[in-house]
Amino acid sequence: MTIIETTQLTKRYGRRTLAVDGISFRVERGQVFGFLGPNGSGKTTTIGMLLDIINPTSGDIRLFDQHGRAELHLARRRIGATLETPNFYPYLSGLENLRVVAHIKEIPESRIGPALDAVSLAGRQRDQFRKYSLGMKQRLAIAGAMIGDPELVILDEPANGLDPEGMREIRDIIRGMADNGRTIFVSSHLLNEVERTCTHVAIIKNGRIVHQGSIAELTARHALALVRAPDTAALIAAARSYPAAVNVHQEGDDVLVELQDDDLAALNQFLGSRGVYLTFLAPRNVSLEDVFMELTTDAVTTTGASA
Ligand SMILES: Nc1ncnc2c1ncn2[C@@H]1O[C@H](COP(=O)(O)OP(=O)(O)OP(=O)(O)O)[C@@H](O)[C@H]1O
Ligand SMILES: [Mg+2]
Repeated sequence: MTIIETTQLTKRYGRRTLAVDGISFRVERGQVFGFLGPNGSGKTTTIGMLLDIINPTSGDIRLFDQHGRAELHLARRRIGATLETPNFYPYLSGLENLRVVAHIKEIPESRIGPALDAVSLAGRQRDQFRKYSLGMKQRLAIAGAMIGDPELVILDEPANGLDPEGMREIRDIIRGMADNGRTIFVSSHLLNEVERTCTHVAIIKNGRIVHQGSIAELTARHALALVRAPDTAALIAAARSYPAAVNVHQEGDDVLVELQDDDLAALNQFLGSRGVYLTFLAPRNVSLEDVFMELTTDAVTTTGASA
C-alpha cells in the first residue's frame, strides 16, 4: 500500500520564495523513508503540507491511498507527527504534557504509558519539561506523536542538535517503531543518520528532489577506485580517457575514479597501456555521503570528459 504520494507538490511563499518546487515521491508501507536535504531545502514546508498545516500552492497529496478533502482529513488521523522544535508547557511534567496532548487528540490516557515506555522516559515522566535535556524533549515529542498509535509517523529533524548518545536513542526508537510495522517519514540534514536508519531516501535540494530510491540502490550505483601514481596530472588525464570512467576527481594526492563497473584490474591495465603505472589502487565503498555531496554540491568535482 502506498502511504504517501505527492505529485508535483509546490509551495511558494510570496512572490520570491519557491520553497518546494514540484516534488513527486512515494512512500510505501513499512518503509523508513529519509527526507534528506541541507538547511532551507524545503523539508519542513513539505511536511507542513502533508500535515495540512501549510497550504500547497499547487500539486497533489494522497495519504493511505486517499484523496479529496474529507478523505484526507480522516487519513491524517492515522498520522503521528513532530514538527521542528518540540513545543510543550515548560512548567508541566512530561506526563502532564502528554495528558494535554491526549486530551486534544481525544485519545484515552491509557495510551500515555506505552508511549513513554517506547521513548524510555517513564522514569522521568514526573519531572518538569523545562528540566529535560534536548534529547529528552525530542523523545517526549516523539511520545506525543505515538500516543494515537499511528500507522504513519512523520518526524521533522528528530536528531537535530543531539549528541551521539542522543542520536543513538532516536535511531533505536525509529527502528523500534519500524519493527512494530509502522511506516516512518523522517526529515534530516544528517546523511549519516539517514544512512544508518532508513531503508529509502529522497534527496531534496532547493525545493527539488535530486534523487530517490532505496539506500542500497543509491550506494550501489557506482564503484569508486582510489588510485595514486607518481605523476598525478598524467594519471587524471589517462583516467578521463578510460571509457568506463564516469567521473574523475582529485582528493589530495589521490585520484578518485568513479566506474560504471567494478573492474579495478581492467582500469589498472588500461592506465598501464597509457604509460601510467599506479603506486596504489584500492576500491572505495560509496557512502551515502559521497552520493549526497555529488548530488547537492555545485561543481566541486570535475566530470570525466569521456562519459
Ligand atoms: N513562512 C515562511 N515565509 C517565507 N519563507 C519561508 C517560510 N517558511 C520557510 N520559508 C523559506 O522556504 C525555504 C524552505 O524552508 P524550509 O523551512 O521548508 O526548509 P528546511 O529544509 O526545513 O530547512 P531546515 O533544515 O533549516 O529546517 C527557505 O528558503 C525558507 O527561508
Ligand atoms: Mg526544517
